[in-house]
Amino acid sequence: MTTLGLNTNTFDFISNLVKNKAAIMLEPSKSYLIESRLNPVARDNGIETLDELVKALQRLGAQKLTQQVVEAMTTNETSFFRDLHPFDALRQQIIPDLIEKRAKERTITIWSNACSSGQEIYTIAMVIQEHFPELQGWKVKLIASDLSTQILDKAKQGIFNQTEVNRGLPMPLLLKNFEKKGLGWQIKEEIRKMVEFKIINLIEPFPVMQSPDIVFLRNVLIYFALETKRDILNNVRKIMKPDGFLFLGGAETTMNLDVAFERIQIGKAACYKPQ
Ligand SMILES: C[S@@+](CC[C@H](N)C(=O)[O-])C[C@H]1O[C@@H](n2cnc3c(N)ncnc32)[C@H](O)[C@@H]1O
Repeated sequence: MTTLGLNTNTFDFISNLVKNKAAIMLEPSKSYLIESRLNPVARDNGIETLDELVKALQRLGAQKLTQQVVEAMTTNETSFFRDLHPFDALRQQIIPDLIEKRAKERTITIWSNACSSGQEIYTIAMVIQEHFPELQGWKVKLIASDLSTQILDKAKQGIFNQTEVNRGLPMPLLLKNFEKKGLGWQIKEEIRKMVEFKIINLIEPFPVMQSPDIVFLRNVLIYFALETKRDILNNVRKIMKPDGFLFLGGAETTMNLDVAFERIQIGKAACYKPQ
């Protein structure tokens, strides 16, 4: 039997692998995605078909190939100032309030989880640079994490092509914070060095880290099963500051997941506070 062009065993093996390693759920209707994303991985490894790719994945010592397959099946769609309102909420209310509340510790930690190629954390860094000069001398820790080493390498380099900078980034911020690099633009070192990048798989125990005041966990829970969403939200709630803020993607919510978060509205942004 086949799932569209894909052998059912091949589909089952790949979808189980991706579910076990990253929690990403692939429905049979997504088998075209497996073909379009994994054919190039097979080719790069000198493998002719996806059935052969599965055989190679089943051999001992296939960790690197497994990682390549899992990374290829992630969706890395992102942009600067994505959805805009969360960044307005940071600027207008959340960071000014934290500056008052954390006046003694003079430390603020912000975690962009499932950060993809870094546009989200660099947006946050630019908001801080642009609007909060009073944070100079504070310990502002910006952490960005993803499970994909490939996408994190891109994020660390901070090089974006013209299409990427055209999406959401206001021209004055581009000219102020980026330098031309070949055909693209590289975010300046002073912004890049504000960010610490880490490999973190959301389905594994979180590494020891400073409790974040603000967590961005956007546009990743949509790929997971209900149970997984619930576990991840519980773990995030445990690690974040009790008076911290969580942002989810526009199509995501903690509602009906039986997790102790309260939804609050800040301007046009919805965010969540531990209860
Ligand atoms: C659609 S992007 C979201 C990027 C950014 N948060 C945003 O909203 O613009 C989803 C990201 O989640 C990452 N991802 C998928 N499964 C993950 C997991 N189990 N742990 C950590 N990151 C994961 C992918 O590698 C991808 O970069």
